[in-house]
Amino acid sequence: MNQTETRRPDFDFENFTFGVQSTDHMLMAAYQKGAWSTYRIAPVQSISLSPLAMCFHYGQTVFEGLKAFRMSNGKINVFRMESHWKRINRSLKRMAMPPLPEELFMEGIQQLLKQDSAWVIDDPEYSLYIRPFVIATEQKLGVDASQEYLFMVVLSPMRAYYNKPLKVKVETNYIRAARGGAGAAKNGGNYGASLLPQINAKKEGFDQIIWLDAKEKKFIEESGTMNILFILEGNRLVTPELSDSILDGITRDSLLKLAGEEGFSVEERPVSIEEICQRIENGERVEAFGAGTAAVISPIETISYQGKSFATYLAADAGMYRLKNRLSAVRIGVLPDKHGWNHLLDA
Ligand code: COI
Repeated sequence: MNQTETRRPDFDFENFTFGVQSTDHMLMAAYQKGAWSTYRIAPVQSISLSPLAMCFHYGQTVFEGLKAFRMSNGKINVFRMESHWKRINRSLKRMAMPPLPEELFMEGIQQLLKQDSAWVIDDPEYSLYIRPFVIATEQKLGVDASQEYLFMVVLSPMRAYYNKPLKVKVETNYIRAARGGAGAAKNGGNYGASLLPQINAKKEGFDQIIWLDAKEKKFIEESGTMNILFILEGNRLVTPELSDSILDGITRDSLLKLAGEEGFSVEERPVSIEEICQRIENGERVEAFGAGTAAVISPIETISYQGKSFATYLAADAGMYRLKNRLSAVRIGVLPDKHGWNHLLDA
């Protein structure tokens, strides 16, 4: 297909709000009688569902977020596609939903991207965000696992999710997820439940919140929609260890795996908020940032805890910028892909 046929002629690739605009096409597949149908790629369209469809009632909705980049050699790279497929299946399992076959996820996304390849423009600050999701569609009001589902994928142009360093507040009232809950799953409910505390924090002038553990409200879990990482003493990359209440972030994982190449040691361990505040109070250099597919690396400027503000290290020589540049260079093929993360579309 001629590339210009698929690009909306009036789209301004410089100025747009993330997540409002989709590309021209979407993917759809249905699960019925214990099996997934083959996928269909169609122009983006509204879908019609019964008001009894179970996704409206009991929260069986799971999603992923991954990105496609235009590489320096002109090819399209879907970054860590296989890791995202594995993670959506872990989320689906937790939410009692059927797994997606590898071919449906991987092949379907590749075909969709080929169809809308003109939306993957050559600009290192730009990516095409890929949003696969599964919803329960069986018509039934009894509380049960649905027997019918819809898998869809939409694509949306993206630049930086956050445009400036973040002022974050440590949330001491609400919690995001408890051990044994569904915090490690990318299900809609986790995000829905985070909105009220985030809105409250915004009213107080903060951009995001840091979640603490549900039991003791002592240990850091995540920051808003991102994992949280710290760089201590300029060379120690420290982040909360994973548990079933923390999302197993793929950007987090990429950074931990790249850290050695930038001279960082890695510590995955419980990180108490007291430790971080104490270090800053002692005059130590503490870098803090959120990491996620959408957020990539989003520097944190201040951490507010119990009414006191703690300023992190953000100067131009901060290690987080080196990590961000390295990740970006691997994704667009400027540095070698030692970990086999790049999934190139054959043109
Ligand atoms: C992602 O980083 O892909 C997420 O799921 C965050 C979302 C709020 C855009």
